[in-house]
Amino acid sequence: MEIKTVWAVYFSATGTTKKVAAALGKSIAQSLGSAYQEYCFNLPAAREKELSFTPEDLVVLALPVYAGRVPNLLLPYVRDSIHGGGALAVPVVLYGNRNFDDGLMELRNVARDNGFVPVAAGAFVGEHSFSRVLGAGRPDEEDMALVQELADRAADKVKSLTEAPAQPVEVEGCDPIRPYYTPRDRHGEPIKDFLKAKPVTDPDKCVKCGLCARLCPMGSIDPGDVSSVTGKCIKCCACVKNCPKGAKYFDHEGYLYHQKELEEQYAGRRAPSKIFL
Ligand SMILES: Cc1cc2nc3c(=O)[nH]c(=O)nc-3n(C[C@H](O)[C@H](O)[C@H](O)COP(=O)(O)O)c2cc1C
Ligand code: SF4
Ligand code: SF4
Repeated sequence: MEIKTVWAVYFSATGTTKKVAAALGKSIAQSLGSAYQEYCFNLPAAREKELSFTPEDLVVLALPVYAGRVPNLLLPYVRDSIHGGGALAVPVVLYGNRNFDDGLMELRNVARDNGFVPVAAGAFVGEHSFSRVLGAGRPDEEDMALVQELADRAADKVKSLTEAPAQPVEVEGCDPIRPYYTPRDRHGEPIKDFLKAKPVTDPDKCVKCGLCARLCPMGSIDPGDVSSVTGKCIKCCACVKNCPKGAKYFDHEGYLYHQKELEEQYAGRRAPSKIFL
């Protein structure tokens, strides 16, 4: 099949998804001799635009896994505003060394239901948004070698196709999709008010540069008073990890408990990145 443009269309609060999506998209474009374009829908303004593709496009559609699924507050945009129009797709998720559960399955299904033809897919490990030690430094060299393998094999597959395959690529996960993963306390009860946790700002460190307000994917940080989180917080950690002064942090008891528990359970192992063709 002839592909004129390869796209990387992604959400990436702390950069790991972008790293994989861009490398994958660029490499597939190079192998196919196609143009390459990127669309990042991190910011609310970017999610006002509808995207429509055609059979001459191949779209690397990439998101992080939140609670074992496609992030619930981003799902409406992906589901309602990104139209496949018969384009080939490579759904990709990044996960933080715990598990991608049904995140890739859900993304593949949404893409399929939106008129994409998913031909290859991948789940890669990225440093966990909540941590500096869980999945630290990933995706690393080994992960990026697998990204390259996915790019090479996806491009070979596309070259060998005479028409779009009738069935989407098989991926790992359950279908029907399972409920969202719930952080639990030491008694097995859901952590109280976890969803309400918001980052705070150290006034001694903050230089009021405004970067966190400009980066917040929910547009929830008041640019006039960056210590004020006025809207929803998805705990993406864009503000925490990108603050040049290290002034943003979470002090919410339940959040800190969950962070510690994740690190204790999963930081000591190397979860695998996986590709599907
Ligand atoms: C709210 C939230 C929930 C998350 N849930 C999971 C999860 O269920 N499993 C997992 O392994 N990682 C999970 N992560 C970690 C991210 O998937 C991972 O760090 C990813 O690389 C972040 O992508 P980004 O750098 O593009 O923002 C979660 C992160 C956030 C912010
Ligand atoms: S990015 Fe950091 S230093 Fe800049 S305004 Fe936000 S909290 Fe302050
Ligand atoms: S306030 Fe919440 S949603 Fe906004 S950047 Fe920070 S962690 Fe992400």
